[in-house]
Amino acid sequence: MGFSKAIVTSGPTREWIDPVRYISNASSGKMGFHIAEAIGNWIKDVTYVHGQVMEEYKNPKGSKKIRVETTLEMRDAVLSEIQKDTLLVMAAAPADFRPAESKESKIKKEDGSEVLLLELVKNPDILKAVGFQISEKKLSGCCLVGFAAETDFLEEHAIGKLRAKNLNYIVGNYVGKNEKGFGEVETSVVIYSPSGKVAEIGPLSKETLSGRIVEFLKEDVSKAVLRQG
Ligand code: CTP
Repeated sequence: MGFSKAIVTSGPTREWIDPVRYISNASSGKMGFHIAEAIGNWIKDVTYVHGQVMEEYKNPKGSKKIRVETTLEMRDAVLSEIQKDTLLVMAAAPADFRPAESKESKIKKEDGSEVLLLELVKNPDILKAVGFQISEKKLSGCCLVGFAAETDFLEEHAIGKLRAKNLNYIVGNYVGKNEKGFGEVETSVVIYSPSGKVAEIGPLSKETLSGRIVEFLKEDVSKAVLRQG
């Protein structure tokens, strides 16, 4: 199976409310970083599209880096990078909503008001947008891999997302309800393809786990029915 390039997305996106405040999430970029490094040993041309990741996760060895801020920017970066025979691993946690309006000046507390209502609009789904572009431009040989971090009903949610986003694989993992954030400890993942559960890996550190996920993809991808556009 010959991929001409890989795109790995990583970390959270930020949606600005005003010049000093934003909506985001607790993703560190650790998994995306290690996935990009591991894929670098397999596919030569790797593009790392990252949001505001922690400093140590900004520079996976050998990757081309594209820094983005918002989910719309991440979508545009991925859409402009994707070509035929691309392996796309969406390890990022893009914000699903953005403020309907990003204020030019800092929002001030109004005396007497105990409530601030913020109107949010839905961001596009990047994986769905990629699927659409693959069909439109008839890009053959692409493989789409998503992640699903869930607090409950992992299999149901992961398989639901795999189908809704028309993915080749989805990597599901439980995030503890009491942990807050995506956690730095050892994690296990379950990988699903359209034929059901295909692997269970871990518990391992995210670094080792990422290497094992990439090894699995490298071996299994010849069985996958890749997107033919
Ligand atoms: N994803 C995406 N575009 C978005 C949001 C998520 O492409 N706007 C990708 C993520 O990078 C991940 C997969 O979709 O690979 C699943 O993301 P997740 O946040 O778990 O799922 P959502 O579809 O956003 O559903 P929900 O937040 O309701 O669980």
